[in-house]
Amino acid sequence: MREKAGQEAFQALWPDPEGRLRLARLSAAFLRRYSFRSPYPPILVWQPKTLRDVRRAWQRLSRAPRSSRGPLGLYVHVPFCPTKCVFCNCMSVTDMRPASHAAYLDALETELRLLRFPRGLAVDTACLGGGTPTALSAGDLRRLFRILDDSLDLSSCRERMAEVSPSSISEEVLRELEAWGVRRATLGVQTVDPRLLARFRRTQDEAMVRRAFTGLRRHGVRHVSVDLLAGLPGQTLVSFRKSLDFALALEPDSVSVYPFACIRTTPYRVEVGEVGGRDVARREEMLALASGVLARRYPRDPSPLERVGDSQQRVDRDYRNGSVLGLGYSSRSYAKGVLSYVKENHYGRYREALAGGEFPPVRGWDMGGGEAARAFVVDRIEMEGRLDVALLRRLFGKGAGAAFAEPIALARRHGLLVGRGDELRVRHDPDNHEKNALICGKLFYSKEVLARVWELVVRGRA
Ligand SMILES: C[S@@+](CC[C@H](N)C(=O)[O-])C[C@H]1O[C@@H](n2cnc3c(N)ncnc32)[C@H](O)[C@@H]1O
Ligand code: SF4
Repeated sequence: MREKAGQEAFQALWPDPEGRLRLARLSAAFLRRYSFRSPYPPILVWQPKTLRDVRRAWQRLSRAPRSSRGPLGLYVHVPFCPTKCVFCNCMSVTDMRPASHAAYLDALETELRLLRFPRGLAVDTACLGGGTPTALSAGDLRRLFRILDDSLDLSSCRERMAEVSPSSISEEVLRELEAWGVRRATLGVQTVDPRLLARFRRTQDEAMVRRAFTGLRRHGVRHVSVDLLAGLPGQTLVSFRKSLDFALALEPDSVSVYPFACIRTTPYRVEVGEVGGRDVARREEMLALASGVLARRYPRDPSPLERVGDSQQRVDRDYRNGSVLGLGYSSRSYAKGVLSYVKENHYGRYREALAGGEFPPVRGWDMGGGEAARAFVVDRIEMEGRLDVALLRRLFGKGAGAAFAEPIALARRHGLLVGRGDELRVRHDPDNHEKNALICGKLFYSKEVLARVWELVVRGRA
C-alpha cells in the first residue's frame, strides 16, 4: 500500500523539474545514511547476478576491438588486519590464523578458476588492497602472486601497487613486494596523535611509520603516498596539523586526506553513534587547511590524465572509463560499458561458497544504455565537485554532453552547478558544499535507478 503510493508519488514528481529536484534532495539525504558517497549506481539498488552473467560480461569485453576496450585494472582484496581500528570503514577481518589466510588464498584460486577470465584481456595495473595486504606472511604473498601470475596475463602490467600499514610490514614482506614489481604504495598513517591512536585502538607509533616509510623506499617503491584522516571525533585542528606536518616531513610523493566517514560498517558508528556537529565542522576546517597546504607542496597537473599523485588504476578507472577486475571478498568489478558487480560482502559466506566449489553470490547493474556515461558524470560531481564536459564527450562520444543538457540546466538554475563552457563545478558553499554535490549528482541518476532508490526511501530502510 505504502509502496504503491510511493511509486505514484514518484511518477508524479519525475516529469516536473522541481519534482526531480525534490526526489534528488530526499534520495541524497537517504543514501548518505548508508555511505558517505556512493559511486553510481549505488550498490543498494543492484540486482542479483549469476556467474554466467559475469563470465559473459568479460567475454563480451574481450571481443571488443583493442582500441575501444580501454585499460584493465586488477584489484585483489586482502581483508586481514591484526586489530580493527575503531574509525575504519573498510571490509576487514581480524583473523590472523595462518590456516585462515591459507583458506582465503584457496578461495581466491577457486574464484579465478570458476571465473574463466579471458586470457586475451591483459592486465594494465594491479592493486593489492584491504584490509592490510602486508598482514599476510611472505610465504602467503608469494603464493598469492603465483596464483595471479598463473591465471592472468600480467606481462604488460605497467603499475603494481599495495596498501601498507606501518604496524605490519617486515623485511621479508618488503622483499616479496619488490620481487613482484610493486613500485607504488599507500602508507596508512591516519594520525600520529597518541591520544587518538589509543582511542581508536590503532597500534602504531611514529617510529613504526618512519621504519615502514624508509623500508618501502629501500625496497624500490618509487611512489609512496601517505593516507591521513581528517575529522576524527575528538581530533583538533592542532592535532591534525601535527599529523600533516609529520607526514610531509617524510617527503612522500603525495598525501591523501580522507574525510572521516562514519558509515554503518564503522565500529565507531556501532559503539558510539553518529559524529557530532562540532566534529563535522572541524572536519571541513581540516580539509580546507590540507587542500591549501597540499596545493602549495604538490601543485597538481590540471589534466587528470597526467597526474602522478594518483595511482594509474585510479586514473584509468575515473578518467578513461577503464575496467576493473576485483578479486576476493566484497570486491567490486566493472567490465567497461557492460556490467558493474560486487561479490558477497560476508567474509564467512564468501569463503564457504568457494570452499564448496560455488562462485559467491553477486549483485550487479547493467552498464549499457548510457549508464557508463552517467556514472562518469555522477562520480565526478559527487567525488570531486566538478565536471569536465569536454572529457565526457571524448570518452562517451559527441552526443554525451547534449544528453545531459537538461539536468545540467536544472542544476545551474538552482545554483548547484556553476562555471562556463565545458568546466562546471559544484557551487562552493562553506557549510553545504558536500551536500550540494550529493544532491547535484542525484539529478543525473537514470529514472530506473532513482525509482529504486525512491522505493527504499519510501520503505524507510535498505
Ligand atoms: C583500505 S584502508 C587500508 C589502510 C591500511 N590497512 C592502514 O590501516 O594503514 C585505506 C584507507 O582508507 C581510509 N579510511 C579508513 N577508514 C576510513 C573512514 N572511516 N573514513 C574515511 N576514510 C577511511 C584510511 O585513510 C586508509 O588508509
Ligand atoms: S584502518 Fe587499516 S589496519 Fe585499521 S582496521 Fe582498517 S584496514 Fe585494518
